[in-house]
Amino acid sequence: MKVALIGANGQLAYDILRVFDDYEMIGFTHAELDITHFDELRDKMGSLKPDIIINTAAYHRVDECEDYPDRSFLVNAIAVRELAKISVEMDAVLVHFSTDYVFGGDKDTPYIETDMPMPLSVYGTSKLAGEYFVRSIARRFYLIRTCGLYGNAGSSGKGGNFVETMIKLAKAGKHIRVVSDQIVTPTYTYDLAVKIKELLKTDSYGLYHITSSGSCSWYEFASEIFNMLSVSADIEPITTEEFGAKARRPSYSVLDNEALRKVGISDMREWKEALGDYLKEKGYI
Ligand SMILES: NC(=O)c1ccc[n+]([C@@H]2O[C@H](COP(=O)([O-])OP(=O)(O)OC[C@H]3O[C@@H](n4cnc5c(N)ncnc54)[C@H](OP(=O)(O)O)[C@@H]3O)[C@@H](O)[C@H]2O)c1
Repeated sequence: MKVALIGANGQLAYDILRVFDDYEMIGFTHAELDITHFDELRDKMGSLKPDIIINTAAYHRVDECEDYPDRSFLVNAIAVRELAKISVEMDAVLVHFSTDYVFGGDKDTPYIETDMPMPLSVYGTSKLAGEYFVRSIARRFYLIRTCGLYGNAGSSGKGGNFVETMIKLAKAGKHIRVVSDQIVTPTYTYDLAVKIKELLKTDSYGLYHITSSGSCSWYEFASEIFNMLSVSADIEPITTEEFGAKARRPSYSVLDNEALRKVGISDMREWKEALGDYLKEKGYI
């Protein structure tokens, strides 16, 4: 089974490469293939003829996206439309990723796949547009919404990940302010990659939520990192308003993995357990 992996330098891609070790993986880093260069994209996929195209590429600096809506839509939607068309031409399965930020945070119980999206930001809106292109064009696709990713490689698009940022700030003795009124589910990219592999074996195409189990605020997430590391960090819970980020974010964006359960795939482990493994793997504990 030949797999083209786009965005191969990213944190999710890093773990997909680790987990899909029995597949023929051909990774394309951003430097090797820019998905907004459509002719090149079509040529590269055309000469490779992959059975599966996995697209992890995204423009996801959420606040920056507010200033660059054109670029956001180009990378997160228009290029995804092109990829969906190419997947049909090649008769390849398309695996594409979306985000909890397609939701508006109006609920206080986990969102299921059929809940109405209501993105609050340019990023969320552009990702939702990408979703609709996949759903309306691709024939065989897995469209996966996930949340709060952190992984060994660190997000190349965001320059690290939340866990590493917290550790760095604590080591530098900084006063750390973290929002306590946005509820999410931190998700370890290794665990996500394992579930994607399981899902790909089902041939049950469609839209899926895939995250760790449980939920917490970003403040609780940070506190748990310091707790596990036995570090007494100078940390303060603040509100979204006090933080004052440019892009609006949902106050609650926990995703229920209902569709996954319906195809017989068990829930992922609790986010705290996954965090512990991540910290061990990185040699922190
Ligand atoms: N990170 C999160 O918390 C999170 C949460 C929910 C959903 N997601 C979604 O999950 C997916 C994977 O995220 P991730 O955290 O693994 O991101 P990541 O680490 O930033 O990886 C994305 C990769 O795509 C590359 N890329 C960016 N623009 C590209 C382009 N135009 N053409 C080709 N490659 C391009 C990036 O390269 P450069 O860095 O060199 O530009 C990077 O290597 C994305 O679809 C994202 O929207 C992420």
